[in-house]
Amino acid sequence: MVRQAQAGIRAQESSRPDWHRLERSAILVVDDDPGVRDTVSRCLQIDGYEVCGAANLGEARQHLESRDIFLVLTDITLEGGESGLDLLDELQAQRSSMPIIMMTANSELTSAVEALKKGAYDYLCKPFPFEAVRAAVRRVVDHLRAVERSTLIEELETRKQAEDESLQQFLVSMATVVDAKSRFTALHGARVSELCRLLGEALGYDSERTELVALGGRLHDIGKIGTPDAILDKPGPLTREEYAVIQEHPAIGDDLIAPIKVLSHLRPMIRSHHESLDGKGYPDAMPGDQVPEEAWVVKVADYWEAITARRPYRNPMPLEKAVACLRGEAGIRIPEDFVEVFLAAIPGAPIALPSGAA
Ligand SMILES: [Fe+2]
Ligand SMILES: [Fe+2]
Repeated sequence: MVRQAQAGIRAQESSRPDWHRLERSAILVVDDDPGVRDTVSRCLQIDGYEVCGAANLGEARQHLESRDIFLVLTDITLEGGESGLDLLDELQAQRSSMPIIMMTANSELTSAVEALKKGAYDYLCKPFPFEAVRAAVRRVVDHLRAVERSTLIEELETRKQAEDESLQQFLVSMATVVDAKSRFTALHGARVSELCRLLGEALGYDSERTELVALGGRLHDIGKIGTPDAILDKPGPLTREEYAVIQEHPAIGDDLIAPIKVLSHLRPMIRSHHESLDGKGYPDAMPGDQVPEEAWVVKVADYWEAITARRPYRNPMPLEKAVACLRGEAGIRIPEDFVEVFLAAIPGAPIALPSGAA
């Protein structure tokens, strides 16, 4: 049997497995028959694996303590009174993820079944051709690689999520800096964000979509990073030229976000929150029926915050007048249903009267 196996191995030496990540680990072969132990070891070495052999559990333990082992092949009956099943028990208790392949004689099939029930990965029935060993080891390596791959993917996803979160945090900080460019808009983004969340909930959005519009509200004016402070903080009406500069901010914000693929779903809110139902908005003068829904959410929240907060050129609008003012936009510059859902949602909400309106 051994000679047959060796002949088979020589014939296949040219097709060694392509594996790298486990290359510094070894396979432990435990068998008190030196002929089987050496043959199996030699065959696996030819296939490119590091192998160490043990005749009993004492030697096996020494290898396990001193070497990096990724797989154990063990005979069931061993010299010295201890068996491969004892080794299986020990490894299950100490290294439950270690794959173990039992090598059994025909007369030990009941023990092999018992070993599988206890968690052995596989068993080989003696006498076995080397192809059977090769296939069993290959299955283990494939399994370990699959585990390694999924662990790696999990790690990458966790890392990517952390990166996305820190990028998002950076943009929120940037939006805070933008709002702080004017003493009158210091809390504008934060308030618009809360109003967007309120409207999203009132519109029946699920939590993910609600948080999306809240973040869109937080970042909607990020393009004002390119607007001169003197214009943002001007204590009086803007000139036509100054207003034209202000109107650049949605496109600037969109350009800023565009390279960040993970935030692409925010772009419609940043770019289109000044579009209008009558098609006379900016920056794209988009027909009203083409304006993305989330942009309407931000527009309503933005409009409300702007009229109820203090501005350089006017005091905050009283609540009743603000309601009338927003209703005046309904059906002309903002779809009526967004206006009405918003107005129905704000009574009782603390955000309905921002501190600047007091
Ligand atoms: Fe804006
Ligand atoms: Fe705004």
